[in-house]
Amino acid sequence: MAALAKNVKLQEFYRNLCVSFVGSIRALSLYPQDHPETEKKISNLFLRLAKFLDHRPNLTLLFINGEVVVENTPLPELSGPLEQIIQQLEAMKLQRLVFRRGLSSEELILFLQLLLPMLKNPSGADLVLTKNLERLPHILAGTLPFEAGSELSFKEISGVLQTARQSVLSFSGQLKDLFSDLEGPLSKTKVSLAKETTETIHRMVVTGEMPLKILIYRRSSDPDPYIHAINVSALSMALSQQLDLKESIIQEVGLGGLLHDTGLHLSTSVSFTKTAAITLDEKKRQWEHPIRGAEILLATPGMPDLVPMVAYEHHLHYDGGGYPRQERPRQLNLASMITCITNSYDNLRRNRPEQDALSLTDTLDWMDRRAGALFHPLLLKQFRALVRAQAQEEL
Ligand SMILES: [Fe+2]
Ligand SMILES: [Fe+2]
Repeated sequence: MAALAKNVKLQEFYRNLCVSFVGSIRALSLYPQDHPETEKKISNLFLRLAKFLDHRPNLTLLFINGEVVVENTPLPELSGPLEQIIQQLEAMKLQRLVFRRGLSSEELILFLQLLLPMLKNPSGADLVLTKNLERLPHILAGTLPFEAGSELSFKEISGVLQTARQSVLSFSGQLKDLFSDLEGPLSKTKVSLAKETTETIHRMVVTGEMPLKILIYRRSSDPDPYIHAINVSALSMALSQQLDLKESIIQEVGLGGLLHDTGLHLSTSVSFTKTAAITLDEKKRQWEHPIRGAEILLATPGMPDLVPMVAYEHHLHYDGGGYPRQERPRQLNLASMITCITNSYDNLRRNRPEQDALSLTDTLDWMDRRAGALFHPLLLKQFRALVRAQAQEEL
């Protein structure tokens, strides 16, 4: 009885929180930020969030097929009253919203302000959110890591969702911690966090708790770099497993996958970005990230040698091309060649400023045409076998 009463109370709390969230957005769209009405609404929302985050590390809101789900609790009664805003959020591909402990009211306001123009003009919103990750250290927003499909209700996908929420969504929160304020070598805590995350991903892939099918077939176009890191880690370990590599090496390959883009996460003093276009600075960042990542990881105590190697080599091609440009041909490490395949695969499947996500078939065709040039032909064949095996399971 007491449990039931608690549930009812919690549900009411979730409901009020959602209404408060929408109310804040509305107030901000009608009045200036320092208007008493706006201030009241936002401080109300902030207090509710802070109260919850006092007890739990994060709060997850999902917006799927016209329904709001807070912490795995569907709130169908809100579908009617909040219909318009849910539609707008879905149009900007905002299906998941995670608030994390440590959230300040300034960060919340920043997020709401960023959201406002995108509600009216949703195209490219997912990329804008991704570009502002550094400014929003306690907020994660984007699509679900997998395609839910419009014909499925929350109830039907809740099994899959459970997996995604527990694994991918909570991991992406951890990775946000890992890559935040990155200025030099990783601290001891961050190294253990990365190793533990890799071990858990590995366990989940082996036991099927994180089905490869979802990572491969139903990968959504979510551009989130943390989901990308998790996918590259999981797929690299699965491919290593298929190649019968030693258990200890598989874990190192997974860690390499998780940290391959470390160089992209180095702190910069970025300004609030409201467009999805790539600036010159970011291009430079992209070109240099293998070197910068390798430097950081090399200087990190307790990091296996393979990890900085993967960071340095993951954009180098089988035929000697790619970057960082080499003076003479280089014998690439097996782990780097694996990561080159899984990284390319996952990059092609997600939205990026320069290109929309490709379908599974188009991605594999694209990769096939580059066998022996970008990718080691035998490794690519193994990757295709991995994909095929998942297809058979699907049938
Ligand atoms: Fe990269
Ligand atoms: Fe990458």
